[in-house]
Amino acid sequence: MSKTNKEPKNNPENPVSAKKLLSTIEKISAEAAKQVNSASSPAELEELKNRYLGRKGEIQAVFKFLPDIPLEDRKQLGQELNKLKTGVEMLVNDALKKLNQSARKSAGDKIDITLPGYPVNRAHSHPLSQVSAEITKIFVSLGFQIATGPDIETAYYNFEALNIPEDHPARDLQDTFYIKSQKPGSMLLRTHTSPVQIRVMEKFQPPIRVIVPGRVYRNEAIDATHSAVFHQLEGLAVDENITFADLKATLAAFAKKMFGNESSVRFRPSYFPFTEPSAEMDVRCIFCTGKGCGICKNSGWLETLGCGMVNPKVFDYVKYDKEKYTGFAFGIGLERITMLKFGVDDMRLFYENDLRFLRQF
Ligand code: DAH
Repeated sequence: MSKTNKEPKNNPENPVSAKKLLSTIEKISAEAAKQVNSASSPAELEELKNRYLGRKGEIQAVFKFLPDIPLEDRKQLGQELNKLKTGVEMLVNDALKKLNQSARKSAGDKIDITLPGYPVNRAHSHPLSQVSAEITKIFVSLGFQIATGPDIETAYYNFEALNIPEDHPARDLQDTFYIKSQKPGSMLLRTHTSPVQIRVMEKFQPPIRVIVPGRVYRNEAIDATHSAVFHQLEGLAVDENITFADLKATLAAFAKKMFGNESSVRFRPSYFPFTEPSAEMDVRCIFCTGKGCGICKNSGWLETLGCGMVNPKVFDYVKYDKEKYTGFAFGIGLERITMLKFGVDDMRLFYENDLRFLRQF
């Protein structure tokens, strides 16, 4: 005998009719939908799933009556029952998904202050700006004020008033960018920050203590240590009784603040038209502490700046009384100091704006 017994089996006294089963299916369908939709927790849904879809569940119980149904209705009822089963399954699964989603969402609304934060990319200054600010701060602490001047200069301020005569090699077309639309040789991009010394002295009477950070230009082939646009920081102090000792003490104090207390400096004679006497200041190599290395070319010293006592001829140009006043001046190359400070070996990196480079500072 086959399993799907064709004879009424469940209750011979009270046989189920197709109509009755169909209405049971509808009732279960409506009831299940109502309960699933009002379920408010995954546990509740799990319970409903068992109640309707479990092996001993309500839908399964109805399947048991199928064999009692006359053959002509049995197929359709079977299909209805299967529809009911998959329908309830879908309802429960959808509801479960929705509940989980909203649980996740409301968990997300709460702030867990113990979680580590997301890293934020903070903007910061360019390494050249950082070093400029550092040097400026040191000289401000020594009593200097900040002055500025134009990038486009006249030959008078850039050369003549600084005692750089007409035939001086520094005026050569090779080094200077002249402005073509002007009278030949009269206007140019400043080749150093020294012209601002003249502008300050024309405007103010001593005592003067100023620094001038700024951009300068030279018609130079670009390589690892040369750029057509670079930066200097000029210094000027004019007063009664200023001596070379003041120059040395001021610049040595700067070096200690810039390169550390244990650093030492030396002054070598040099030549600049606008200072007399002139010198260059070296700092004991910060990489080998003087033993000699590749960076100081085995000399143990690093060139850091040019300096000197203001040439009395310059005072003549600004109509200062050269019997009454003396002064010292200095010029620092910002790129060089920045390269030394951060161990950068190619100046071009400062101008390429490659974030992989800039983010390191
Ligand atoms: N102007 C010089 C240059 O560009 C640097 C310099 C040297 C400036 C000595 C000074 C100084 O004020 O006293 O190379």
